[in-house]
Amino acid sequence: MNVTIETERLILRPVTVDDAEAVFKWASDPVVNKYMIYPLHKDISVTREWLESIDIDDPNGYEMAFVLKETGEVIGTGGMYCRSGDDRWNIGYNIRHDQWGKGLVPEAMQGLIDYVRSTRKVSAIYGEFAKENKKSGRVMEKLGMTYVRDGEYSKFDGSATFPCNIYERVF
Ligand SMILES: CC(C)(COP(=O)(O)OP(=O)(O)OC[C@H]1O[C@@H](n2cnc3c(N)ncnc32)[C@H](O)[C@@H]1OP(=O)(O)O)[C@@H](O)C(=O)NCCC(=O)NCCS
Repeated sequence: MNVTIETERLILRPVTVDDAEAVFKWASDPVVNKYMIYPLHKDISVTREWLESIDIDDPNGYEMAFVLKETGEVIGTGGMYCRSGDDRWNIGYNIRHDQWGKGLVPEAMQGLIDYVRSTRKVSAIYGEFAKENKKSGRVMEKLGMTYVRDGEYSKFDGSATFPCNIYERVF
């Protein structure tokens, strides 16, 4: 959806094809990509194709660029999607490696969740992270989410499969 959200250190706004160079920096970084469901972007054309596929007017989907107020750079993206028709929203996120460990993703996602809850019915948020990817588990804990059950997911191209934890927060 086409909205702008402000947090202490970030502006969140829809990510567009004009952000391709910024997004490619982390989408092509194997360290960031390791546990993401999308395959590593080996060429910026893949990044452009993904960005062009995003429907900015989708009422049930928010795919937001995280813009660092201090520099104006796009340093990551995060999303919230309601695909099930039951007001449960799935969350996902990633940011550039040099920005890890500053609490930026919890800040961004909290801002997004608060916004969506203020405008839409959100009965719960849920997400999954590879058991090895404890950093993402920490983000979900900071968002007030807790363990529901074990699961497993594979990258879209089948190149890796990870046992995962499914976390949620019911409102
Ligand atoms: C997971 C991720 C989104 C966390 O974002 P972030 O903004 O760094 O989140 P935080 O700053 O709150 O840090 C979360 C945890 O990462 C770890 N961490 C902190 N600094 C770190 C650093 N410099 N390097 C690596 N890990 C660090 C800590 O365990 C931290 O938890 P703590 O605050 O309780 O110590 C980010 O690491 C990332 O983009 N990873 C790659 C993509 C990914 O895995 N996405 C989620 C898929 S489910």
